[in-house]
Amino acid sequence: MKNVREQGAPRDAAKPGANGRTPVLELDGVTKHFGAVTAVDNVSLTIHKGEVLALLGDNGAGKSTIVKMISGVFVSDEGTIRLEGRTAAFHNAKQARRAGIATVFQDLGLVPTMNVWRNFFLGAELKSGVRLDVKRMRSETEQALERIGLRNLRSVDQGVTNLSGGEQQALSIGRAVYFEQKLLILDEPTAALSVKETNMVFEYIGLAKKQGLGVLLIMHNTQQALQVSDRVIVMRHGSVAAEFEVKGVDPEMVLTVDAAISGVG
Ligand SMILES: Nc1ncnc2c1ncn2[C@@H]1O[C@H](COP(=O)(O)OP(=O)(O)OP(=O)(O)O)[C@@H](O)[C@H]1O
Ligand SMILES: [Mg+2]
Repeated sequence: MKNVREQGAPRDAAKPGANGRTPVLELDGVTKHFGAVTAVDNVSLTIHKGEVLALLGDNGAGKSTIVKMISGVFVSDEGTIRLEGRTAAFHNAKQARRAGIATVFQDLGLVPTMNVWRNFFLGAELKSGVRLDVKRMRSETEQALERIGLRNLRSVDQGVTNLSGGEQQALSIGRAVYFEQKLLILDEPTAALSVKETNMVFEYIGLAKKQGLGVLLIMHNTQQALQVSDRVIVMRHGSVAAEFEVKGVDPEMVLTVDAAISGVG
């Protein structure tokens, strides 16, 4: 397994058409300072259509800051972010969502006091004239969750807090697929999940990938990251330290990636 970055591979190898892969999102020299701290330092990376990219790194490496710049929570100090080739400078998360970036933050952005279908259509409610089209939103939610394989839900009328952590992730992923988002970002999607639930979420990620979404995953567990992603990027002290194409999970690869995370070797 090669560290693609150290092999001197061109960073912009994925311009439209290159390798037959279409870039969904490109970061080019993106930098973010917080006072004297450089949280993200000259980061360039690309996520393609139908590709799962995992971003790994120790605490404080700059992962969440990258997610926040992509999703419009922070504005970068330097560099450019392009969505489907067009410069994207979002000033808030809503703008980013409208442009096709679905970010599932750790708290999932679900409203605990609302039921499943209300959460599904939150901020994008279907209307019939001036009234909410409840009937259609219920049935659309049922069908969308059915399509993503979430079939054991008792009812879309139940409170979202009745759902397991994995089911809540599935709901968020299903929503991104339904609204035809281009990029799905999941920040530590499996941090609080059991093994079984983690595998379930990985299946849903696979479905989002099949629909052609680019997926950016923030992970802490290397083994899991290798299991679900096509490529991993390791960040250290705000910079990209290494990049690997994932060909499968083997113990040696886990060790190599972990060494890159801790900066050994
Ligand atoms: N709003 C902020 N104000 C000041 N400093 C910040 C802010 N957000 C992040 N930082 C700093 O930027 C650096 C990168 O933080 P970031 O949250 O991006 O790391 P991370 O890789 O997501 O870490 P973790 O794995 O712990 O979530 C850290 O040194 C952090 O203290
Ligand atoms: Mg973080």
